[in-house]
Amino acid sequence: MTAIDDASVGVGASGAGRVPFPMRDRLHVPRERYFDRGFHDLEKRKLWSRTWQMACRLEEIPEPHDFVEYQICGQSVLLVRQPDRSVKALHNACRHRATQLEKGAGRLAGGQIVCPFHGWRWNADGTNSFVYGAWGFAPECLRPEDLRLRECKVELWGGCVWINLDPDAGPLREALHPVADLLDSIAIGNWQVKWWKEVVLHANWKLAQEAFMEGYHVPQTHPQLAGGLSVDEFPVDLNRYDIYEGGHSGFGRKLTGERYTSVDMLVLAGQLLSDGQDAMTLERDLTVFEPLRNKLGPDEDVGTAAADALRDHAKGAGIPWPDGLEDSPLFFGGEVFVFPNLFFLPMYNNCLSYRIRPYGDDPEWCRFEVWSLTTYPETEQRPRAQKLGRFDKDDSQYWGLIPMQDFSNIERQQAGLHTVGFEETRLATEWENAIGNMHVELDRRLTRD
Ligand code: FES
Ligand SMILES: [Fe+2]
Repeated sequence: MTAIDDASVGVGASGAGRVPFPMRDRLHVPRERYFDRGFHDLEKRKLWSRTWQMACRLEEIPEPHDFVEYQICGQSVLLVRQPDRSVKALHNACRHRATQLEKGAGRLAGGQIVCPFHGWRWNADGTNSFVYGAWGFAPECLRPEDLRLRECKVELWGGCVWINLDPDAGPLREALHPVADLLDSIAIGNWQVKWWKEVVLHANWKLAQEAFMEGYHVPQTHPQLAGGLSVDEFPVDLNRYDIYEGGHSGFGRKLTGERYTSVDMLVLAGQLLSDGQDAMTLERDLTVFEPLRNKLGPDEDVGTAAADALRDHAKGAGIPWPDGLEDSPLFFGGEVFVFPNLFFLPMYNNCLSYRIRPYGDDPEWCRFEVWSLTTYPETEQRPRAQKLGRFDKDDSQYWGLIPMQDFSNIERQQAGLHTVGFEETRLATEWENAIGNMHVELDRRLTRD
């Protein structure tokens, strides 16, 4: 991956004075950015209402007339699959007296959107099909162009539906440069939902996601992933993020002989991920790795053997395997952060994904969703993707050890930000640069006219 020159993304972009609590450099984040009401309101006006954002996964609306509601900062948008398989994004308000038309997810009965108040109806494409007692309205109240449900910008990419509430927004692909290319190179569109869960956290959305933008916390927060070494002993060879324009960032870690010197180590590391989060490495991968214990010669490279075995298994099972997947820097684990709030953590032919957004209208609460994605045989019919539910952050029945460890710090950190005498966070140049990069881009968005 090629990173941008740090200096090419200006700190204190023109007009930064208009942002309350701006970034004065890339190394300090003023604490108010995580709880100040004025800052939150500015994000609503200048970020969420004008940025491309992932509204749903395509597997949520596989069939014509399937719909799902996406909520962001008081706005509600319906993503509706059309008979020609395209997707429309319709603002969720009746053109009569504004009642929200649909809630949650489902399939439009008879292909019609029906207002629950007075029964007006629309086709899946947003054209009005029925007004009850139409003769009782003045003609000027029922002009067809006024009755049509309002659309917002929508594009499909990476197995997801993306929306932008700004009618003048530029193309999605431009906004996702260069991370869209990175993810396309490992066929992001092949992944599908294995499971999907949500937690509500008492923390600002940015703070919550920053826990997943550095590996610096691993030895202290996840001791089992540090092989039993304490922070005093754990070698500081942590993942370094490449930062990009647009607030995006990522890293990929090519497996080296030093990391896994034996199949035992490979299997053990895989088990920690499989047992600890049921994502990135799955049971399926472990059953492919196990037989290597007896097969591998002393001089054979563990990583190469693992990749060959996974590829052979995929081809035999009819699982799509893009050309050169095993040569990607993301193949043995990595992360791609898509500004403002979406993560992909690919590994082998699987991926962990996160989406974080404000909850309600409160800067100190957020919704944190987690997906385990994988690649299924092409012939396998997958059920419509549904969220398993919203689970408490401490509920070990539903969350693996790794996410519970991560969640455990976030609310404590949010509380700590209110401490008298604490002014700003301080970031490691080497390990926490992706966080500073996100905030600098945020300031750029907040100062745009
Ligand atoms: S508010 Fe929807 S039909 Fe009256
Ligand atoms: Fe973590």
